[in-house]
Amino acid sequence: HWKHGGIVGVFGYGGGIVGRYADVPELFPGVEHFHTVRVAQPASKYYSTENLRGLMNLWEKYGSGVTNFHGSTGDIILLGTRTENLEPFFWDLTHDMGQDLGGSGSNLRTPANCLGMSRCEWSCYDTEECCHSLTMKYQDEIHRPAFPYKFKFKFSGCPNDCVASIARSDISVIGTWRDAIRIDQAAVKEYVAGNYPANGGAHSGRDWGKFDINKEVINLCPTNCMWMEGSELKIDDKECTRCMHCINVMPRALRPGVDK
Ligand code: HEM
Ligand code: HEM
Ligand code: SF4
Ligand code: SF4
Repeated sequence: HWKHGGIVGVFGYGGGIVGRYADVPELFPGVEHFHTVRVAQPASKYYSTENLRGLMNLWEKYGSGVTNFHGSTGDIILLGTRTENLEPFFWDLTHDMGQDLGGSGSNLRTPANCLGMSRCEWSCYDTEECCHSLTMKYQDEIHRPAFPYKFKFKFSGCPNDCVASIARSDISVIGTWRDAIRIDQAAVKEYVAGNYPANGGAHSGRDWGKFDINKEVINLCPTNCMWMEGSELKIDDKECTRCMHCINVMPRALRPGVDK
C-alpha cells in the first residue's frame, strides 16, 4: 500500500529524492512518509570505512537506516524518510560529508563506471576520469530534470562489461584497442601443457578434464580468427571482434593491445 509521492525534494534540485507515502497511514503510521534518497556513488564505488560510518550515522539520524548498496542505477539508495527530514539531511550530506544527491526522474542519472585503470590491467581508458569529468560537466542535467525520460551514461574499460553497459545505459562507452592482441607464446605453451589454470583458476573447483585450447578457446572465438601453427597461437587481428573470450581464458598469455 504505497502511493507515488509527487514532487518531493530539496531546494534547487528536481532529482535525487523519490517521494513515497503509505496510502493507509492510519494503519501504518511509522511509514506514513517513506521517501527514497539517492546519493551519488563515488567513481568505482571506493569508500573508506570512515565515510561509510558517517553515511550510516546520517541515515540513522534522519531516515529509517535501511539502505541498498548499490541500486541498479548505481547510486547509494537510502530508503525511507519523512519530508521534514530532507533539507537537514541534504545540508549535512553536502556540508559535512562533501557528497551530493544522485539522479532520479527524467534527468541525467548518476553516471557509472567500472573500476578501470585503478585496478584492472585490461582497462583501455581511464573510466574514472571520464565518469568524474562528465559528472561535473553535467551537474545541471543531473539535478534538474529537463528530459522526456531518464538518461544514463556508463563507462566500461573493456568489452567484458559490454552487456551490462549497453543494457543499463543510453550511452555506453566501452574501451577497446586498435592494434593486435599481445601474445606471449611461452605462456600459451604453459596453458596447453596444463601448467597454468585456465580462466585464472576461476573454475578449478570442478574437474573439467585436461585443458584443450581448441575446444575452450579457438573453436569458441566468435569470428573464427584464431588457429595454431605447430605450438604457436595465431590471431588474424583484423577479424577479431574484441570479445575478450580468449583473453579471459588465458590471461597470462593474451592481453589487449597497447594502442588503446
Ligand atoms: C508507490 C510506490 C512505489 C513506486 C511507484 C516505485 C517505483 C519505482 C521505480 C519506477 C523505480 C525505478 C526502477 C528503474 O530503475 O527504472 C524504483 C526503484 C526502487 N524502489 Fe521503488 N517504488 C515504490 C515504492 C518503493 C518502496 C516502498 C520501496 C522500499 C521499501 C522501494 C524500493 C525501491 C528500490 C530499492 C529501488 C531501486 C533503486 C535503484 O536501483 O536505484 N520502492 N521504484
Ligand atoms: C529468496 C529470496 C530472494 C530472492 C531469490 C531474490 C532474488 C533477487 C534477484 C534475482 C535480484 C536481481 C538482481 C539483479 O540481477 O540485479 C534481486 C534484486 C533485489 N532484491 Fe531480492 N531476492 C530475494 C529476497 C529479497 C528481499 C527479502 C529483499 C528486501 C527486503 C530483496 C530486495 C532486493 C532489492 C532491493 C533488489 C534490487 C537491487 C538493485 O537495486 O539492483 N530481495 N533479488
Ligand atoms: S570491464 Fe574490463 S576494464 Fe572494466 S573492470 Fe571489467 S575487465 Fe577490467
Ligand atoms: S577477443 Fe574474441 S574475437 Fe578476438 S581473437 Fe579472442 S576470442 Fe576471437
